[in-house]
Amino acid sequence: MTDRVQKQYEAMRGHFHRAAEQRGFTLDPAQEAPVERLSRLAGELAHPAWRLRRSPRHLYLWGPVGRGKSWLVDTFLDGLPTPRKRRLHFHDFFRRLHEGVAHHAGSRTADGAAVDRAVDELLGNCRILVFDEFHAHDAGDAMLVARLFRTLLDRRITLVTTSNYPPAGLMPDPLYHHLFEPTIRLIEERMDVLDVSGPVDFRRQPRPDRARGFDLGARLHPGDEASAGLVPPQPGESGAVAAHHRELPAKAVRRDHVWFGFQELCEGRTAVADYLAVADRFPTIVLDDVPPLTEASSDGRRRFANLVDVCCDRDVRLVLIGADPLAGLSADSTLMHDLDRTASRLALLRRPAQEAAG
Ligand SMILES: Nc1ncnc2c1ncn2[C@@H]1O[C@H](COP(=O)(O)OP(=O)(O)OP(=O)(O)O)[C@@H](O)[C@H]1O
Ligand SMILES: [Mg+2]
Repeated sequence: MTDRVQKQYEAMRGHFHRAAEQRGFTLDPAQEAPVERLSRLAGELAHPAWRLRRSPRHLYLWGPVGRGKSWLVDTFLDGLPTPRKRRLHFHDFFRRLHEGVAHHAGSRTADGAAVDRAVDELLGNCRILVFDEFHAHDAGDAMLVARLFRTLLDRRITLVTTSNYPPAGLMPDPLYHHLFEPTIRLIEERMDVLDVSGPVDFRRQPRPDRARGFDLGARLHPGDEASAGLVPPQPGESGAVAAHHRELPAKAVRRDHVWFGFQELCEGRTAVADYLAVADRFPTIVLDDVPPLTEASSDGRRRFANLVDVCCDRDVRLVLIGADPLAGLSADSTLMHDLDRTASRLALLRRPAQEAAG
């Protein structure tokens, strides 16, 4: 190792330990290998790009929810001295990619080339791209994701992704899994796969030091709105909120929050891009008439899960009014398995008083 590489490697290791200390925790044993590997990557990036024959190897961190994967990659990025770095959440990346592809396909570029050009624009001159919370569920997107990975892995960048799925578990639907197998092979060949499967979902750990649970938002029984400082929508407050290429019917549009019904927001024809647009504009989203998710349609459940992801990633407060979305779901049901991420994030919501005490 040259001095420069060694120095940056050690600086990154120190940065990880200090960052954990500042937040009042110690690294979990399952986080140690990723810390070591990310610190090595920081060392490799100490060389200017033109001196390297190829860019450092790509990393794929996976593990169950709440194991500190996003924290690892965010801390890594934060400690990296280069400005040529970028972090994008999967949903956000995809929204931008779709827009870019539509733009280039419109100018009569062949499909694959449109993806390549859209990716180039998104990446700019960055050397390191963090792609958080990657998953593939939508068969319609399988081909686009396949092309995206081929394009990304061939660029002179290093890709670092996090996921709740090991590569072989991506696109879990058995009907479509085979469509994704070439991409899985590509990921396994070209990325170093790191397992971050510690025993604890940190989100569910009590954190007396910080009331983090109060930041994400709250879950209320109907009629308890005042306890969260909210006034139910009044006649004349409803309105249309401009989202992504469509308007969403809101029950109330106020300066610091917007109020939707579950039916309109999650059972209507809305997409993640709409939630991103709303999250960009309002610091709080209120959703009422929330049913137990067992009673929602499967698309409704998927949309709700995406909404929770978006709010969590964008630090938007989410206030849910209605039933406990997870009521009636046993921990080992298939449905619960699909909602694992959502359940982990909902644990951050302040719950109705009687339940929280119980
Ligand atoms: N070693 C640790 N000890 C305690 N808390 C931790 C530790 N590492 C991370 N955390 C905290 O745990 C919470 C969850 O971490 P994070 O969001 O990174 O999980 P994740 O693995 O990305 O989850 P998901 O798969 O649901 O996206 C964060 O508040 C983070 O700061
Ligand atoms: Mg995460």
